[in-house]
Amino acid sequence: MLGAEVIRLAGAFLVAWALMQAPAATDAKLTGVWSVVITTPDGQQRETIYELKVVGGKITGKVYTMFNAQDIADGKVEGENFTFAIVTRMGEQERRMVTEGTIAGDELKLKRRMPAGGGPPPGAGGGKGMPAEMTARKLAPEEAKKKLAALAPPPKLPLPELRDLPDNGLARTPPMGWNSWNKFRTKISDAMIREIADALVSSGMRDAGYVYLNLDDGWHGTRDAQGNIRANERFPDMKALGDYIHSKGLKYGIYSSPGPKTCAGFEGSYGHEEQDARSYAAWGVDYLKYDWCSARVVYTTAEEQRAAYQKMATGIQRAGRPIVYALCQYGQNAVGEWGAKAGGNVWRTTGDIRDTWASMERIGFGQDVWAKYSRAGHWNDPDMLEIGNGGMTDVEYKTHMSLWALLASPLLAGNDVRQMSEATKAVLLNREVIAVNQDKLGQQAQRVSQDGKTEVWARPLAGGAKAVGLFNRGEEPAKVTVRLTELGLKGKVKVRDTWAHADKGTAEGEVTQTVESHGAVLLRLTQ
Ligand code: GLA
Repeated sequence: MLGAEVIRLAGAFLVAWALMQAPAATDAKLTGVWSVVITTPDGQQRETIYELKVVGGKITGKVYTMFNAQDIADGKVEGENFTFAIVTRMGEQERRMVTEGTIAGDELKLKRRMPAGGGPPPGAGGGKGMPAEMTARKLAPEEAKKKLAALAPPPKLPLPELRDLPDNGLARTPPMGWNSWNKFRTKISDAMIREIADALVSSGMRDAGYVYLNLDDGWHGTRDAQGNIRANERFPDMKALGDYIHSKGLKYGIYSSPGPKTCAGFEGSYGHEEQDARSYAAWGVDYLKYDWCSARVVYTTAEEQRAAYQKMATGIQRAGRPIVYALCQYGQNAVGEWGAKAGGNVWRTTGDIRDTWASMERIGFGQDVWAKYSRAGHWNDPDMLEIGNGGMTDVEYKTHMSLWALLASPLLAGNDVRQMSEATKAVLLNREVIAVNQDKLGQQAQRVSQDGKTEVWARPLAGGAKAVGLFNRGEEPAKVTVRLTELGLKGKVKVRDTWAHADKGTAEGEVTQTVESHGAVLLRLTQ
């Protein structure tokens, strides 16, 4: 009797104990430092560290990617399953990335749900090429300590006092050329860059004005004992590559970051600004794109950002070679106000473009707020061209080109120029459209009117003509009208269709054209 009672009591006690222990056991299992290593589509190894602390089913902690630590929000465990969110704030914008996970033996299986509008903002790390499903392994305490120390941002180095740098006299019209990023990401090499150089010449791109051949992220290797930057094994000799590019009548562009690492995790110029500028000058570099990326973990204020850009501009100046200086900080901190003062010839006004109508449309039609900053030598940069990369129709690419021409944007082709279709060539190589972009007056277009899904944009050209874009963002063909008074024109105007190289007679009062869905008509009006 008594024995049975004891057994029953003991059993009940055991069940209660087990119930109490179950969450505690999960808590302990999940608590710790976890590592996820992934290989990006470009073949880059990237590590993310999850430092998780779990108490009573609630997860707190941090996620570390390349000097970037973010707090975990809304973390909870239920049985073997758990979720948490990482919230990234950029000005007004908030992006929430939710991770769902399962405890699977000694490992964690993680799935990330991307926020609406793509991955994290540029420079935030952890976004590009991350697979949807990942496996995490727990780190032993010593290893965890080492990894976390390596991921901590470096100490802040002193920055120069802000001053207004003199104009370097370059980029009197928007720079034109080609950049490796949109099509090739970090999959670039000396051999392919030489092929691109050849193709820029044989396709007629160079003669149409596309002279800068710009390497984007992916060329950096390590530093030598003196701290001089070296290229990685895919670029055996950066000076020889520059010589080759120059021998083709092209100019040589390169990429780096004011931070310790570039956006793709390569070596940045942090603490080596002047030394790197000297290397670039020695290699014959003519263009530098300087991409904020991990600088955000060291510098936080607008002043620091401007000073960091000024620092490299001064480095370039001292190195003594004329180098077009392109700031890439995604349009933060009202860069239009100070980009030129920090030595910039070009500054990005947006996050990264993607090869979709939605992305191009959002960026292109959102540029009028920047118009007042654009002038000869100092250009707004709504990012590189996607023309020919396959994600839009030829009509949409024509609209992309029409907009970038009107906006006096740098024209950096981002496609594989070694194999261009005739349609792509027709869009990139139309001389009258390029002439609008390169107009000497250097004045960016602004929106003249908007009527539902149709818009009119115009810019004055040297000599008194106007370039006028009639756009149809809708899904059906539409008539688009511009009244000449809206353009400050009176009386008769001569109408020329730049795309068609065709005179369309004269007009008075207004000009109306039917524009296909997602299409553009780019006119030149003269009196
Ligand atoms: C950022 C820039 C891109 C490109 C990549 C390279 O995202 O905005 O244009 O340079 O970095 O990693």
